[in-house]
Amino acid sequence: ARKIIIDTDPGQDDAVAILMALASPADFDILGIVAVAGNVGLAQNARNALKVVELAGRKDIAVYAGCERPMRRTLVTAEHVHGETGLDGPDLPLPKLQIEDQHGVDFIIETLLAHEAGSVTLATLGPLTNVAMAMIKEPRIIPRIQEIVMMGGGYFEGGNITPVAEFNIYVDPDAADVVLRSGVPIAMLPLDVTHMILSTPERLARIRGLGNKAGEAVYQMLSFSERFDLNKYGSTGAPLHDPCVIAYMLKPELFEGRHINVVIETSSELTIGMTVADYWGVTGRVKNVTYLRSGNAEGFYELLTERLSRLP
Ligand code: BDR
Ligand code: CA
Repeated sequence: ARKIIIDTDPGQDDAVAILMALASPADFDILGIVAVAGNVGLAQNARNALKVVELAGRKDIAVYAGCERPMRRTLVTAEHVHGETGLDGPDLPLPKLQIEDQHGVDFIIETLLAHEAGSVTLATLGPLTNVAMAMIKEPRIIPRIQEIVMMGGGYFEGGNITPVAEFNIYVDPDAADVVLRSGVPIAMLPLDVTHMILSTPERLARIRGLGNKAGEAVYQMLSFSERFDLNKYGSTGAPLHDPCVIAYMLKPELFEGRHINVVIETSSELTIGMTVADYWGVTGRVKNVTYLRSGNAEGFYELLTERLSRLP
């Protein structure tokens, strides 16, 4: 099984991604889940991560809290998308599990130093603050990271929080910049992909039809965020973002893209947080990212539904 750390700001779509990973023990050895400030504040995101772990009946998975604000900028949150709790929709019990005492950034550092170099992947579903802070605090971890698979960015589709910026990158563009310049192999699942992975009523009905607790909770979560996205995009289903990270690690053949250069705009008032993707190779800058541009929605939902069927 591939060793992963999940860094996240749950978030309904983060929660679905975590459930998908928890449902795949033969594929993933989840070393820990680290919360970061993003969709809502840090404490609430960490609590939501605990709720998801408990929903899956996986009390063995430790949850850590990382940074409560971006490196330089003021925190921007997204209650308008995810609700006041960040995980509105299902009625999940308050968690009994506790957040670990160790700081999430130190957990990332310690874990990478303790495992063989090149054997741990970071799956990031939120702003990149924790990962960048770990790289700055302990640069010896950088060459030890096997890969970073991230949901973030967007180029051909434009942005979702400004006309050009995607939320995860926008919240902490400085952190994204540190991570993209680190030299670590990166796979990026941007809005260009996630806007193809639409949660249509039929797909959600199939998930609910599984008849288990996890299927019902995912149905409630995605029906909640859908209300926002249906109004926004007028499509027949809302985009599903973060689970693309897990699906890509399970079945990379569901996605297509190119190895290219991506840099982050960190200063312009107008375009801050933009992922400037050199898809056509016009700059000669170093290729640092496998930029996925499209995904197979049918194949994705088949995989997601099958994985969720394994949960309580
Ligand atoms: C990203 O922003 C968050 O609101 C979602 O959880 C996802 O990680 C999409 O832009
Ligand atoms: Ca997220």
